Amino acid sequence: MAGPASSDPMASLPKLLHLVAAILWMGGMAFLMLALRPAVQAQLEPAVRLPLMATVLGRFFVMVWLSVIVLLATGLSMLLDVGPRAAPLGWHLMLGLGLLMMLIFGHVWFGPFRRLKQAVAAADWPEGGRRIAQVVLLAKINLSLGWAAIAAVLLLR
Ligand code: HEM
Repeated sequence: MAGPASSDPMASLPKLLHLVAAILWMGGMAFLMLALRPAVQAQLEPAVRLPLMATVLGRFFVMVWLSVIVLLATGLSMLLDVGPRAAPLGWHLMLGLGLLMMLIFGHVWFGPFRRLKQAVAAADWPEGGRRIAQVVLLAKINLSLGWAAIAAVLLLR
């Protein structure tokens, strides 16, 4: 019954930080695709909407970079504390899926998001629209992978 967390309260700190980072990243992606994008798409012209989306994404992505650093640092520390051999399958799946999410995010940052900013600077709205669509598609994929990682860690103990 009494896990390491109950004998040493500080043992829960990495997990708390891990959850904070995961919730910020996952919640931001859900908000982006389910609330923000449909609303601005319905109400704003491309010349207003695309610069707005580029600014919003720029701010959100700073948060995602921080989340990536915190998830990796805390996740690996929890994994290495137990030892990779003793760690349950779900933890290894979380590492694999988490790394995949990070690669996809890195691709978004250096690919479609960079192109979006260039399109906005050039007032090329059709190109900007295509790039936003790519960012949102990859965010959908990452949201699904994130839930798969969480399901793995909770169900495959
Ligand atoms: C890529 C590196 C990652 C590693 C090495 C990693 C590792 C771990 C480990 C070892 C645990 C188990 C902690 C425990 O049960 O004591 C855990 C839990 C968890 N991780 Fe990750 N993780 C990573 C990425 C992510 C990502 C990207 C997300 C978000 C989608 C995430 C969300 C969670 C959640 C929600 C838990 C559940 C904590 C619990 O209640 O047991 N992790 N992670």
